[in-house]
Amino acid sequence: MPAIVLVGAQWGDEGKGKATDLLGDQVEYVVKFNGGNNAGHTVVISSPDGPQKYALHLLPSGILTPGVIPVIGNGVVIDLDVLFRELDDLTARGIDTSRLVVSANAHLIAPYNRTIDKVVERFLGSRRIGTTGRGIGPTYADKMNRIGIRVQDIFDEKILTQKVEGALDQKNHLLVKVYNRRAIQVADVVDELLASVERLRPMVADTALLLSRALDEGSTVLLEGGQATMLDVDHGTYPFVTSSSATAGGGCTGAGIPPTKVGTVIAVIKAYVTRVGEGPFPTETLDGAGERLRQVGAEFGTTTGRPRRCGWYDAVIARYASRVNGVTDFVLTKLDVLTGVEQIPVCIAYDVDGVRHDEMPMTQTDFHHARPIYEYLPGWQEDISSSRSFDDLPPNAQEYVKSLEMMSGAPFAAIGVGPRRDEVIQMRALTS
Ligand code: GDP
Ligand code: IMO
Ligand code: MG
Repeated sequence: MPAIVLVGAQWGDEGKGKATDLLGDQVEYVVKFNGGNNAGHTVVISSPDGPQKYALHLLPSGILTPGVIPVIGNGVVIDLDVLFRELDDLTARGIDTSRLVVSANAHLIAPYNRTIDKVVERFLGSRRIGTTGRGIGPTYADKMNRIGIRVQDIFDEKILTQKVEGALDQKNHLLVKVYNRRAIQVADVVDELLASVERLRPMVADTALLLSRALDEGSTVLLEGGQATMLDVDHGTYPFVTSSSATAGGGCTGAGIPPTKVGTVIAVIKAYVTRVGEGPFPTETLDGAGERLRQVGAEFGTTTGRPRRCGWYDAVIARYASRVNGVTDFVLTKLDVLTGVEQIPVCIAYDVDGVRHDEMPMTQTDFHHARPIYEYLPGWQEDISSSRSFDDLPPNAQEYVKSLEMMSGAPFAAIGVGPRRDEVIQMRALTS
């Protein structure tokens, strides 16, 4: 069975966690391939005791599905405290986490990188990115700079000490001389990392080899992206992006799976758009309509609790995501949140200083100047949360979905009509 890649199409929080959970029964492995605990996935599962809500950050959403093997791939950056806390929390709620496998090549978020993330943002002032402050950017920078600490390093105290010394040689200059912070001691960092050795050891494996064998044996592997296309370090709204490859190509490098093994690329896309942190956002609505989307859609960050910026569906972004990721199927989420909006604006193109752009503008300057060209689609008033087939939707909701699909560059395979796992309209099979 080929691998499936699942990514976000916009600026994150599209409902990737729920979509992964939906596919859970049909896959054997779920691999998180990028990012770290900057991600926040809320998954709501029905149970005899009522809906159970899980907030996952570092663990792949597949951990909630019995029988699935969750994998943290080499492209991920790991905060070990967060990893163990998340595992403990899930175990306390009766979830079996014993199958988790962690790549020996994944990088660790050292304590100094959390500090640097926060002080750099403070120093940037009005030019800040609005990061999650989890040390993600500095840890990826260390990886590229070849001074990173990998999971495998903590199994060799001598190597670990050498690597921490090497990193702190540079970091302490920065911390003390530029940012007026106290120098960090090598021994403190080494001791903190070594404290995790015995708990981590049984989880660690050559995950690329494991996944290659699994694919050869006919297993289905789902590569679950954190963040999203517009936050991708290469293809997003740089510099207002995260520091990893969140697009489909990143799935291959971040899991160690060759592109020839990928058969399906699913992009999760919201029926409107949200963004957390700074950066351009052409369809953002700062009026009452945006506030309504925030309240009805519960658009507050799963990780930082920040209110998400809200705006209308942007078909230029959808087409861009379709192209950059090679999307075979979109999963449209949160259609229910639009119920009650009388006329729904949909951005079909941009006006950049008087020139129409149907594609993403080439430069940052032009994207900052992009003004949405809207088409207005009639809304619907009926509650759609109990719709389970396309025909159950009111005619205007059907028309909205069809219009979006025509503009977005790939078919819609499923439509979310509520946060719960079963609140979905399946249009076609996702893992055929
Ligand atoms: P992720 O980061 O892409 O996994 O998304 P988040 O979990 O951060 O944010 C998506 C939020 O929307 C979560 O609270 C989900 O429970 C919720 N959600 C997902 N799909 C739907 C849907 O179709 N309708 C509604 N109302 N909520 C949804
Ligand atoms: P999920 O997986 C939304 C944003 C941050 C900030 C920028 C850089 O839940 O969709 P970072 O801490 O990564 O260096 O911050 O990226 N960001 C997200 N926004 N959803 C996420 O993840 C995000 N992960 C990072 O708000 O603007
Ligand atoms: Mg999220």
